[in-house]
Amino acid sequence: MKKAKIAVLGGCRGKEILQYCIKSERAELVAVCDNNPVVYADLEKFFSTQEKKPIITDSFDELLKIELDGIILANFANEHAPFAIRCLDAGINVMSEVLPAQTLKEAAELVDAVERSGKLYCFSENYCYLDAPREMRRLYKSGALGNLEYAEGEYFHNCEPIWHNLTYGNPEHWRNIKHAFYYCTHSLGPIIHSTGLRPISVTGFEPPYNDKCRRQGILGAPFAMEIVTLENGALVRSCHGQTSKNSVWFSMTCSKGKIEGAREAAVNAKDSPHGKVYASINPEETVFCDDVDGYVPKTQFGETESYGHALADRLIVENFISALLNEPCDIVDIYEAMDMFLPGIFAYKSVLAGGIPQAVPNFRDKAERDKWRSDISTTDRRVAKDQWIPSYSKGNPVIEQSVYDNIYNKWLNEQNKEDK
Ligand SMILES: NC(=O)c1ccc[n+]([C@@H]2O[C@H](COP(=O)([O-])OP(=O)(O)OC[C@H]3O[C@@H](n4cnc5c(N)ncnc54)[C@H](O)[C@@H]3O)[C@@H](O)[C@H]2O)c1
Repeated sequence: MKKAKIAVLGGCRGKEILQYCIKSERAELVAVCDNNPVVYADLEKFFSTQEKKPIITDSFDELLKIELDGIILANFANEHAPFAIRCLDAGINVMSEVLPAQTLKEAAELVDAVERSGKLYCFSENYCYLDAPREMRRLYKSGALGNLEYAEGEYFHNCEPIWHNLTYGNPEHWRNIKHAFYYCTHSLGPIIHSTGLRPISVTGFEPPYNDKCRRQGILGAPFAMEIVTLENGALVRSCHGQTSKNSVWFSMTCSKGKIEGAREAAVNAKDSPHGKVYASINPEETVFCDDVDGYVPKTQFGETESYGHALADRLIVENFISALLNEPCDIVDIYEAMDMFLPGIFAYKSVLAGGIPQAVPNFRDKAERDKWRSDISTTDRRVAKDQWIPSYSKGNPVIEQSVYDNIYNKWLNEQNKEDK
């Protein structure tokens, strides 16, 4: 059986993902790259106990010289596009972690590169592969639900207890300087992927800055909300970021039926499986949709093993492998990736413009891309230069260096404990 030769860039989140390459009978993990010495040493240690050891390198240039079918980009979330473009131009298929790009200029160039190279671009929006979104997609594509009228997507993750492991007290880390709208694909993506409907306009809503952000050294608002209009007129509420509760939840109300996942609090309280969905379908349209007993959608993998993000991480890798081997697959391509990503960028533009709705461009159309080609506005001064925008719309808060020093020390203490 032919095996897809895969390399992974980034050894933190990448270390979770590469386990699914190792697990798959249809893939061979050929190389892993990380230029952080601590992470590099951790990879060496991990592979010393494995049956097969891939090439471990700290050089992305070296990675590109290896014969590969595909690369999985799990480097920093704001740095994917330039690396993806280099891979595509080198003739290598790409699976990219979220997000696809940092600016509209990068996004336009990334789409150009996919079209120019003819190579595969697979966006690793794993929330599309959670149980409820998978079932939402299956039912919607079957036609049973009718037309989407209203949908909601929530991704709230209280990361305060692990912030030191994510940012190491670095004030410049993308998680500290991004605006809250940036990371919108986990909440919006599953609705886009389930329906295939394109977003055409968006209005952004930003909550007040709070003490939770200040304690973590975050410059942006704690979370963000987009109200998105899709091409059929349906409305979507997409909400994401950090609050005191966690929530991964999706719901769709359609002309012939409705479907929603279980709320996290209910799941935790009843200790029931995470992936429970509640669907009811009434083909007559005029009949009220009754509530029904929930069920857990079936998957092709055993229920006994534990997988990252409730199986979604494994599914996304398996689908990438299928695409590499020209087998039937369910992937998020570059255009759909843009449909998931652009509303967040334009939602913040809407906030900065005083709450005015913004049209969401269709990046399938080169003329539309051309309009945004010189837009490098973002919250990172090094990238945006004179197009810099604040992380929080009312101006960046001042955060004492001691906040970052404390977070760094917490990270260092944990590292030292692990080393002993
Ligand atoms: N989909 C999910 O559920 C999920 C969960 C966590 C993280 N992520 C994504 O995974 C990605 C990585 O997460 P993160 O940003 O927190 O970073 P991270 O903590 O995973 O670290 C990224 C690693 O990449 C390495 N790296 C970066 N540039 C490199 C280069 N040029 N050469 C070699 N190594 C390089 C760094 O040294 C670092 O070890 C992001 O895109 C993030 O959005 C997704």
